[in-house]
Amino acid sequence: MDLIKNPYSPGAGSPPPELVGRDPVLEQARILIGRIKNKRSEKSMLLTGLRGVGKTVLLNEIDRMAKESGCHTISIEAHENKALGPMIAPYLRSLLFDLDRMAGVRDKVKRGLAVLRSFIGVLQLTIHDVTFGLDIEPERGAADSGDLEIDLPNLFMAIGEAAEDRKCVVVILIDEIQYFNRVELGALIMAMHKVQQRQLPIVLIGAGLPILPGLAGASKSYAEQLFSFPDIGALSEADATKALREPAQAQGVTFESSALQEIYRLTKGYPYFLQEWGYQAWNHAISSPITLQTVQDTTETVISRLDSNFFRVRFDRLTPSEKHFLRAMAELGPNAHRTGDIAGILNIKVGSLGPLRARLLKKGMIYSPAYGDMAFTVPLFDEFMIRAIPDLK
Ligand SMILES: Nc1ncnc2c1ncn2[C@@H]1O[C@H](COP(=O)(O)OP(=O)(O)OP(=O)(O)O)[C@@H](O)[C@H]1O
Ligand SMILES: [Mg+2]
Repeated sequence: MDLIKNPYSPGAGSPPPELVGRDPVLEQARILIGRIKNKRSEKSMLLTGLRGVGKTVLLNEIDRMAKESGCHTISIEAHENKALGPMIAPYLRSLLFDLDRMAGVRDKVKRGLAVLRSFIGVLQLTIHDVTFGLDIEPERGAADSGDLEIDLPNLFMAIGEAAEDRKCVVVILIDEIQYFNRVELGALIMAMHKVQQRQLPIVLIGAGLPILPGLAGASKSYAEQLFSFPDIGALSEADATKALREPAQAQGVTFESSALQEIYRLTKGYPYFLQEWGYQAWNHAISSPITLQTVQDTTETVISRLDSNFFRVRFDRLTPSEKHFLRAMAELGPNAHRTGDIAGILNIKVGSLGPLRARLLKKGMIYSPAYGDMAFTVPLFDEFMIRAIPDLK
């Protein structure tokens, strides 16, 4: 087999050779953008799903689609220890400069810049980061109260008005949105609330872990009226088969159906794993068709690759007591578990697990699918934990 022609693309955010099973979400995004363009109200979208299901890939595809339809887009990724204000300000600055370039200097855009200038002033950003090139007087009192829940909505309104003035739609794409703290998430929700009330042309499309709807709701109770939370999950067997078969077929290579069934059984349809198995099976195969035997022979390599990158990067960020908690959880199997049962395995009182559980939630390692239940955010992490720590002491 020609290794150069291997079509599969395991990797964070790597575009798959075939974006399978996501047409309904892409259609929802297309309708949302189209409606906002036509000054009709529509809920913004926050995509939620486990690690490696294809959220980043979807955001990138929506970004491409939005640009193609003439929208201005801003694409950012939240991090655990980075604040929202300094992260978004440079992008808003380039956006306003773009709008400014479109047709002479108009008042609304100028005002957008002045409001951004006041927002930046209160953040006290360093010169080379953002303020460089913004030699415009800040509009005092516009977005410089120092309270993000007041300043961000004001800034979004000014930007929305500038965009409206230029008859364009701004699409803000934010990945890993669960990493914003409560105030930042609240400010973002309030900003979108204001924008929607005024029917300004700003669309927010975010992606994050399944803890996101809970975080948004806890931050602002009206969040669910403003956002829809499409669930991005594993692919069905038919879609998983398509994701593997079609890219191979384009290169004149086929799979035995038993080989495809085996990959589905092992991956449970999770996109990251499908790409990894497809990639390794291709490289191990001597010629077409790729057989069940090849897939079986490949499995050990795939698992050790997943262990040393996909799983390991998460594992290495854990403290010993966090590892111990997750190892106990793994003992109970892949599904959601009552905290009481985990405490039972660890032989400690439920009450004492609170802080540990909170830290793991914040790190995005676990989430609560239902009250009192805990589940892994990384698919197949239970099996990995047992391989990594064989003996639960
Ligand atoms: N619809 C799909 N069909 C087939 N493969 C896909 C699909 N979506 C994503 N993939 C593949 O899955 C892998 C993971 O995608 P991506 O990084 O977008 O996931 P993610 O949900 O953002 O993960 P994380 O939560 O870790 O950031 C990539 O290798 C990508 O090519
Ligand atoms: Mg991602």
